[in-house]
This record gives sequence, C-alpha cells and structure tokens, in this order.
Amino acid sequence: METLKMLNARKAVRQYSGQIDDDQLKQILTAGNEGPVGMGEYKNYRLTAIQDPEILQKLNGIYEAPTVIVVSAKDPGPMEYISIGAIVHNMELAAEDLGLGANYNMASVKSIPSDALPSGFTGVFALTVGQTDQQFTSRNIAPHRIESNIVK
Ligand SMILES: Cc1cc2nc3c(=O)[nH]c(=O)nc-3n(C[C@H](O)[C@H](O)[C@H](O)COP(=O)(O)O)c2cc1C
Repeated sequence: METLKMLNARKAVRQYSGQIDDDQLKQILTAGNEGPVGMGEYKNYRLTAIQDPEILQKLNGIYEAPTVIVVSAKDPGPMEYISIGAIVHNMELAAEDLGLGANYNMASVKSIPSDALPSGFTGVFALTVGQTDQQFTSRNIAPHRIESNIVK
C-alpha cells in the first residue's frame, strides 16, 4: 500500500484469527531491522519473536495474539525508548501492509519471563501480531486529534 494511505489506514488490531507464517514473520522482523536507532547503535537492541504457547499464556494483555515480538535493549534510557518506538512502529506498519493485524503493546512487557529474552537485555515494548479478518481502509481521523502549532 502507498505509504501515506497506509499511515491513515493502519489501526490497532486486537482480534486475531490465526498464526502468521514464517515468511510473514521474517518480513516483519526485516522492517524492525530497518528501523532507525539513536547514534546508529544497533548492537544495543534485540528483536525476540515469541510464538511458544507456554510463554504466550504467561503474558498479560496480549489479546490471545499468536505472536508477540519484543524489542529489548541494553540499559534502556530515553534514547533506547524512543528508538524502540520507531522500531515497533516500522514492524506494525509492515505487518498491516501484509494484511495482518498488529498492535503496539506495553501491557505485556513486565510479564515477559526474563529467560525468554537475550541475557543483559531488558524488554521495553512489544508488538502483538496475527492473522485478522479486519480490513485496512481509509479512516476518518480528526485533523486536530493531536493539536499542532506552526512557528514561522
Ligand atoms: C506506547 C504505546 C503503548 C501501547 N500499549 C498498548 C497496550 O499495551 N495494549 C493495547 O491494547 N494497545 C496499546 N497501544 C495502542 C494504542 O492504544 C492505540 O494505538 C491508540 O489507542 C490509537 O488507536 P489506533 O492505533 O487504532 O489509531 C499502545 C500504543 C502506544 C503508542
């Protein structure tokens, strides 16, 4: 989908109708890998895709998503939080461009078992993903949902 149309059509999808396939997962992880990070310090970040039902059932607030992709960082501070927001947004857009349902997820982060993440990395933000029956069509979003001002 054309980028500007996708930015309008994307939405938080919290109902999933099945698991994504490995090729779809790879494309979403590729979009995460293509995300920007502060200072270009990519070594400080990790992407972890959780599809193990035993781990998923321990996670809070994931709406029974069949896949949760966690982005973690070493000693996360403001730079890492902001970078991870951009990474997760890249993956959300990629997933929905593939016709999958996806949503940003902070609710699960504290419940992720530490041994599911790479040693030395702290989970910061996650993406829930799955197949969806929902369509991505033009959304009527209030133009000043976020108030803006222009200084010139
Ligand atoms: C930082 C952040 C954290 C979020 N955490 C959650 C979450 O834990 N659970 C959830 O259902 N939605 C979560 N969301 C999704 C927002 O609720 C959603 O994007 C917002 O309500 C706007 O809806 P839209 O994405 O359909 O435009 C989060 C979004 C962001 C940006």
